[in-house]
Amino acid sequence: MVKCRLYERKMSQLPIFKNALQHPVFKVVSEAAKTLQLETYVIGGYVRDYLLKREHKKDFDFVAVGSGIELAREVSNLLPGKPKVTIFKNYGTAMLKTQGVELEFVGARKESYQEHSRKPSVENGTLHDDQNRRDFTINALALSVNEANFGQLLDPFNGLKDLENKIIRTPLDPNITYSDDPLRMLRAIRFATQLEFNIEKKSLQAIKENASRLEIISKERIVDEIHKILMTPKPSLGFKLLRDTGLLPLIFPELMALEGIEEKEGQLHKDNFWHTLEVVDNIAQTTDDLWLRWAALLHDIGKAPTKRFDKKNGWTFHGHEFVGSKMVYKLFKRLRMPMNDKMKFVQKMVLMSSRPIVLATEVTDSAVRRLIFDAGEHVEDLMTLCEADITTKNPKRFQKYHNNFKRVREKMVEVEERDHIRNFQPPVSGEEIMETFGLSPSREIGLIKDAIKEAILEGAIPNEYDAARKFMMQKGKEIGLKPIA
Ligand code: CTP
Repeated sequence: MVKCRLYERKMSQLPIFKNALQHPVFKVVSEAAKTLQLETYVIGGYVRDYLLKREHKKDFDFVAVGSGIELAREVSNLLPGKPKVTIFKNYGTAMLKTQGVELEFVGARKESYQEHSRKPSVENGTLHDDQNRRDFTINALALSVNEANFGQLLDPFNGLKDLENKIIRTPLDPNITYSDDPLRMLRAIRFATQLEFNIEKKSLQAIKENASRLEIISKERIVDEIHKILMTPKPSLGFKLLRDTGLLPLIFPELMALEGIEEKEGQLHKDNFWHTLEVVDNIAQTTDDLWLRWAALLHDIGKAPTKRFDKKNGWTFHGHEFVGSKMVYKLFKRLRMPMNDKMKFVQKMVLMSSRPIVLATEVTDSAVRRLIFDAGEHVEDLMTLCEADITTKNPKRFQKYHNNFKRVREKMVEVEERDHIRNFQPPVSGEEIMETFGLSPSREIGLIKDAIKEAILEGAIPNEYDAARKFMMQKGKEIGLKPIA
């Protein structure tokens, strides 16, 4: 009895956030919960982001003390058009879509995990049991949709305080929470990066201790979290945490290999790991293209295997762009990332990442034409990457490098207006070459086509039909061909 009164007094002190539940679906869920006499709460990301005044993707997670599936069916019955309920029997969850939002329902549960699996054994439980099994206190916040206390916040682990203090903390002993589901180690780092929160010390220590458990997590889920870290305004925060906790070498050994500065005969090279993180932060200021951000992350990975020292030139990384682009392939394959045009784009950016830099010291028309030709539709992205690559702390040099790239960009506009290289189409086709000289498919055709392209890129002839035709005749003559008519 005493316990109960205490509980009631506590309940009445809990804050109410009715405004969080203005969307019409909350009233519908409330009505369904009343009909079925099920205690029901909205929980997780939506509540967290509402309290942070942060935009949340349009999905609401409901937990019912009882059957989430039955609740979903009842909600559907009450909605216009009775939307289809998708049931995930294995997980005991149900989902439906209505009015542009996605509703997910689960029955409150107690979970216990085995050592080598992410699949828990599950029993029915109370709201508190369900909050216990969640990853972080800020994700265990629940708002009641029950008529009696509509909008009341149920916050058994002081998640609200953690939101205020910007702390990522687990409801249970972090060793349990992370060992139960090691993906949460990455989620902790991802949330810390997205929200610019600190991970509680005890939690950080537990991540270090449990890092090797990442091996039971699928590559797809790992990559998903890396994508989210990369899409934050300051991804370096996440990569630094990944490094400090020992997760980075398990995911990206090739990035870890970039860390460190060596000195030989008084000569130092820069620390390419920390430089890379600066480049990623820089590019995050100028583009939301996930794959361009990946390119920034990987642009120097070829530097570890190509690092050499010789007395004359000091530290060199010859061919690191080529080696790096090959490493991109292996890395994408290992992490089961898409082996499609996205990967090819990242490879291309890594391969070409030094081209505009070399060019910036002497901006000739022909070099700019070659750059536009080779980078094709991605030339703008390449320039964005190169500008992000400027991390010098010397203000004079910083300005100078930016001015150089500005000149390259101006020259690119000028050359492109005149020569139309970007989507280069040979002004004289292979068929025309064959018809002119009476050739069947042969080596000579390629030779002439190539010579025309080279002459245009070098600026020997303009990128126009008449000039190219004249050049073709001349080239044909040189290699002993005669026009047939
Ligand atoms: N959750 C968890 N452990 C996980 C994944 C999810 O405890 N490994 C719980 C958390 O309570 C989380 C909720 O399930 O808030 C919903 O998960 P999810 O949709 O993945 O994340 P959100 O918190 O909604 O955040 P975001 O959409 O930004 O990923």
